[in-house]
Amino acid sequence: MFIRVNHPTVYDRIMTCTVIVGGFFGDEGKGKIVAHIAHADEPTIIARGGVGPNAGHTVQVGEKEYGVRMVPSGFVYPDARLCIGAGVLVDPRVLAREVDVLGVKGRIFVDRRCGIIEEKHIAADKASVHLSQKIGSTGTGCGPANADRVMRVGRLAQDLPELKEYLIDVPVEVNTAIDNDEVVLLEGTQGFGISLYYGSYPYVTSKDTSASQIAADIGVGPTGIDDVVVVFKAYPTRVGEGPFSTEMSHEQSGELGIQEFGTVTHRERRIGCWDGKMARYSAMINGCTQVAITGIDKVDKACFGVTDYEKLTPKALDFLRAAEDDINRPITLISTGPELSQIIDLRDEF
Ligand code: GTP
Ligand code: IMP
Ligand code: MG
Repeated sequence: MFIRVNHPTVYDRIMTCTVIVGGFFGDEGKGKIVAHIAHADEPTIIARGGVGPNAGHTVQVGEKEYGVRMVPSGFVYPDARLCIGAGVLVDPRVLAREVDVLGVKGRIFVDRRCGIIEEKHIAADKASVHLSQKIGSTGTGCGPANADRVMRVGRLAQDLPELKEYLIDVPVEVNTAIDNDEVVLLEGTQGFGISLYYGSYPYVTSKDTSASQIAADIGVGPTGIDDVVVVFKAYPTRVGEGPFSTEMSHEQSGELGIQEFGTVTHRERRIGCWDGKMARYSAMINGCTQVAITGIDKVDKACFGVTDYEKLTPKALDFLRAAEDDINRPITLISTGPELSQIIDLRDEF
């Protein structure tokens, strides 16, 4: 017989650990949502999961716009330690540049078991007709580096002297914070539709992208997660090849005034209409507890920059009600523009 003596369990902990993931094909605005939640909830740790530097999160604070590929996008909240989980591929050159430019040295840490992207991986990604042309990969070496890891020939962060100063055991750091009821954010990259398991294979990235995978990347077990925020953009986008059932023509997106370019590759993003069926399926596999919708200003320009729910227009409210019906989970965050403060946060009401 087991007797519980002061063991923190999921039942007596307060809600502290939130995973944030993308519900469509990536680029939903996770960077913006993570940055907002970080400022609102004041986490002690923000850890990044996902594939690696193929992802680019954009964070706009005032006039300044940052595009981050290795550093967690929550870096804009200055009081959190920043961690990169063991499941994430690290390109040491990209990391060094970002650490330098963003001035985060001293508060960014890398798990010693992260796989390393070398020049040969980038060259192989770009030279492969299958990857670069058929799949439309980002050319950042992620696919070949993950292949090497699966073959157990890849190098790890602990093999590189230049990464020594960053190395820690990320799961110990993160799980200790969770057990101490500190606020922890786990940020995902990419999106559900390009998951290696659940996306439109073979037009996918080199790993699963669901909330469970993001938690595993960082070393947090299922019982450690309290909340899963799935981010959907009102008009989904896709970069690279692959099916996109709600894709609209260039003329249609032009008429709506929507045009987007990739943060990493600068390729033009394909634009689609809201896909309720995909949103519901994605919410199910992600174990979604709350929904963030970005780009409401693209549904109705009059909503640009609105920060008060009461000021949303009937057109926007109709869209949000229909989306909530589709997903069957509460919409608690509504983003009304790219800038950090352009958001309506309803989380306290749930
Ligand atoms: P990945 O991790 O690569 O999937 O990216 P992400 O989900 O962090 O998104 P990314 O920053 O690549 O793309 C989202 C784009 O939309 C960025 O340019 C943001 O600045 C912008 N954005 C975010 N929220 C909103 C919003 O509510 N309205 C508008 N107009 N733009 C937004
Ligand atoms: P890879 O991950 O570079 O191998 O690219 C495989 C596919 O995933 C391509 O269609 C890429 O455009 C897409 N992809 C990878 N990372 C991202 C991302 O962060 N946002 C959007 N699409 C991505
Ligand atoms: Mg992106």
